Amino acid sequence: MLDENEIFWYITIGFGVIFFLAILVIVFFLFSRKQIFKKELEKQTLKLKYQEDLLKATILTQEKERARIARDIHDEVSSKLNVIVLNMNLLQDEDVRKSSRAGEISLKAKEIGSRALENARRISHDLLPPVLEGFGLEAAIEEICDEFNTIDGLKVKHAYTWPQDAIEKTRQIHVYRIIQEMLNNSVRHGQATLITIKFDEDGNNLTLLYTDNGKGFDAADPENANGLGMKNIESRVNLLSGRWIINSSPGKGVHIQTIFKKQA
Ligand SMILES: Nc1ncnc2c1ncn2[C@@H]1O[C@H](COP(=O)(O)OP(=O)(O)OP(=O)(O)O)[C@@H](O)[C@H]1O
Ligand SMILES: [Mg+2]
Repeated sequence: MLDENEIFWYITIGFGVIFFLAILVIVFFLFSRKQIFKKELEKQTLKLKYQEDLLKATILTQEKERARIARDIHDEVSSKLNVIVLNMNLLQDEDVRKSSRAGEISLKAKEIGSRALENARRISHDLLPPVLEGFGLEAAIEEICDEFNTIDGLKVKHAYTWPQDAIEKTRQIHVYRIIQEMLNNSVRHGQATLITIKFDEDGNNLTLLYTDNGKGFDAADPENANGLGMKNIESRVNLLSGRWIINSSPGKGVHIQTIFKKQA
């Protein structure tokens, strides 16, 4: 039989053990919460950093694009207008006007004027394809695929099946630029000979399946993260409240699935 003293000690030890275990549980709980918070914070920091990188890339792309447009206007329009003005100034001179050179000078000015006009048209088409503005996304995709189909040894297969007005007019340019960049990459980097673009509809989602049979690449390799094109695609996908999955490996071509919300 246990005497009172022993019972007292057993109860005390029992309580002690329970107390110790309770402290242990509390410490473990607090510690794991801290770990979870830390992980969550790290995740948020990474997400923020990623978004910051994406924003930087978008701004950089914009600046690069502006610089290119400025250069194009300067070299291909302004400089030609300059020559025309110089020729017109020459023609102001009575002697020159009466000379045999007058016809030649005005013909030259006319030719340069037509070239400046042609260049200005090309620059503005680059900024906003008129077919997109006038006839919509389907026609614009048709046109760009036709353009790429003129490249020797390349076949671009596509079938546009998205419902009319599935993407707001102001957002169609993003889909167009995404496809344009993918096509450019397939030709420039993949040397693809076959590209297929499938447009599908799945409930509230629109899917775009892009594949090429080119060289492929390792999307996880940081070497391939130096360009702006893919980052630009990503920010346009975000603008369309979409997401995208790239599947590619060297030698296996490229397979990109993009999912957008209808009329997001
Ligand atoms: N279809 C593709 N086939 C093979 N490699 C590709 C393809 N698309 C992208 N890549 C690889 O991914 C890299 C990043 O592409 P991204 O479009 O971001 O940049 P870039 O084309 O090199 O330059 P930028 O688009 O800024 O002019 C490319 O340099 C290339 O190595
Ligand atoms: Mg590119």
